[in-house]
Amino acid sequence: MIKQLSEDLRNKISAGEVVERPASVVKELVENSLDAGATEITVVVEKGGQQLIQVTDNGCGIASDELPVAFERYSTSKIGTVDDLFTIDTLGFRGEALASIASVSEVNVVSANGSDEGAEMAILNGETGDVQPAATVQGTSITIRNLFYNTPARKKFLKSPRMEFRKVVEMIRRFALSYPDRAFKLISDNRDILNLQPEDLESRIVHVMDPAYRDQLLPLNYTKGDYTISGFLGNLNLIRTRPGEQYIFLNDRYIQNRLMNSSVYGAYRSLINRGEFPFFALNIKVPHDQVDVNVHPMKTEVRFKDEWRIYHVLKSAVEEALNPILNTIPDFDKPDTGSQFDFPTSFTPQEGQLNPDQQGLDLSASADTAIKFQPAVDRAKSYASKLASRPEPDSGKVDLENIWQVHSKYIVSPISSGLVIIDQHVAHERVLFEEAMAAFDANAMAAQTLLFPEVMEFSPDDFSTLLDVLPYLEKMGFRMKEFGENTVMIEAIPSEMAWGNEKNIIREMLDNYLETQKKYASFQEALAASFACKAAVKAGDVLNTDEMRELVNRLFGTKHPYYCPHGRPIIVQLSMDELDRRFERI
Ligand SMILES: Nc1ncnc2c1ncn2[C@@H]1O[C@H](COP(=O)(O)OP(=O)(O)OP(=O)(O)O)[C@@H](O)[C@H]1O
Ligand SMILES: [Mg+2]
Repeated sequence: MIKQLSEDLRNKISAGEVVERPASVVKELVENSLDAGATEITVVVEKGGQQLIQVTDNGCGIASDELPVAFERYSTSKIGTVDDLFTIDTLGFRGEALASIASVSEVNVVSANGSDEGAEMAILNGETGDVQPAATVQGTSITIRNLFYNTPARKKFLKSPRMEFRKVVEMIRRFALSYPDRAFKLISDNRDILNLQPEDLESRIVHVMDPAYRDQLLPLNYTKGDYTISGFLGNLNLIRTRPGEQYIFLNDRYIQNRLMNSSVYGAYRSLINRGEFPFFALNIKVPHDQVDVNVHPMKTEVRFKDEWRIYHVLKSAVEEALNPILNTIPDFDKPDTGSQFDFPTSFTPQEGQLNPDQQGLDLSASADTAIKFQPAVDRAKSYASKLASRPEPDSGKVDLENIWQVHSKYIVSPISSGLVIIDQHVAHERVLFEEAMAAFDANAMAAQTLLFPEVMEFSPDDFSTLLDVLPYLEKMGFRMKEFGENTVMIEAIPSEMAWGNEKNIIREMLDNYLETQKKYASFQEALAASFACKAAVKAGDVLNTDEMRELVNRLFGTKHPYYCPHGRPIIVQLSMDELDRRFERI
């Protein structure tokens, strides 16, 4: 039953306008549909919602004789008494949304609640029209036209239809993530934008975020007393440098709360830096009397009875879910690169990798090799200064004096608390990936001029891909000139790539880039990852001690030394405890 709230209760409700833009209309209408128990919700917008917004659901419907009252101020079926305010378990409760919307737009509503015939009603220029019988199926459909037609000043504040549309999509994304068990459809200017069937949260995330999120999500399920937290966290591959993919739901309601966000960031600890934002979609369930949603009419702001308790519970929950990552991350310190500037090492190709033509040439005499390790040294320096400003215990460093290669595949070194094992390929991959990404924004990576330029021919479509990405390849240290139809002359390659194999590597890189493009957030990332994967030392490549040292040093100069761009671990630690246990000493 929809009833008018008493004067007293009205005064207790946080008052104010909730209709700011098309997305806020969508929010209010979809919330009503969800409160009505709908399992299928369809949102249609035209011109970013400025021309038309229609929300159709299969929920409980509104009785025909209640249609007019639903659009009156302070009329709601969701609360009745002041006490109800403390146990709100619906998204709406103010009884104001439909009235606010109807005051700034033209409304048409069709509804059927199963007990009687469907009914239809229009509100134009603030005038409620007659309720008329209408043939309709169970549920409600509300159509909003000409938003802000009578409030030109508000209309002026709207952004372009495209921008408003993006806000609508983001709004639907929030609902879709908090209600993965419901079907959502979004149609914009006659185009199907989203068509989501009921599914589990993990698939829902993949469907509303990006296919690249598959396999990059860590589940979280945590209960402490009467608090339950569930959802997914993104691993280190889903870290962005802009905020916007942090979703916290409180009792299924999307909320914005800085303390909760900082609790999650805190749990990621050293895995993220300042200015980096991991993905998360977490639903916190707390007893309804532990939280006040009647703070602001938009209801995205909430007040917790015990803010710090929820902060700590959330942090523990996230830490526990991150355990698989935190565990692979050794509890030793990054090596002190301060004293390592003089390492005279380089990734000069191994004998066996050399092109027979070039064997015996004095590679180190080439002018390019001199600048070869400049970027690494710079980074090492900046890392050293970072370390200097952060006091760290000097126990547990990787001992670069004692370092071995095992099976031409792993690098092993003792640390005070045990032993670390580094996968040489993924370590180098991480280094190259970050260097390539950095090179796209700033200085190009070092190149080595080929003594004998190579001519390489492509298929027409590979060639057009190559041209697309050529500026980026140049940043990575490739230098190529067009040399007739679908053909280039390769003049230089990144200094770190082995000679003699450049044609294969370029071809594999292009293939890999095309294949994996969809998995990455940007084509730059895809390109950098393909390059890193193909140009990195492989399992089977013999490294000398200096090369290993340099690799380890540069690895610890990267932002994420523990995970390769594909999410595989780079470092595994064996603690003394573990060894002692294996040998049954303890
Ligand atoms: N899609 C719907 N299906 C069934 N009933 C609806 C639907 N939309 C609105 N109603 C009814 O109309 C009433 C008024 O809706 P309105 O959104 O204005 O207020 P509310 O949801 O109660 O509170 P709030 O202002 O906080 O959203 C609701 O309480 C509900 O009973
Ligand atoms: Mg409502």
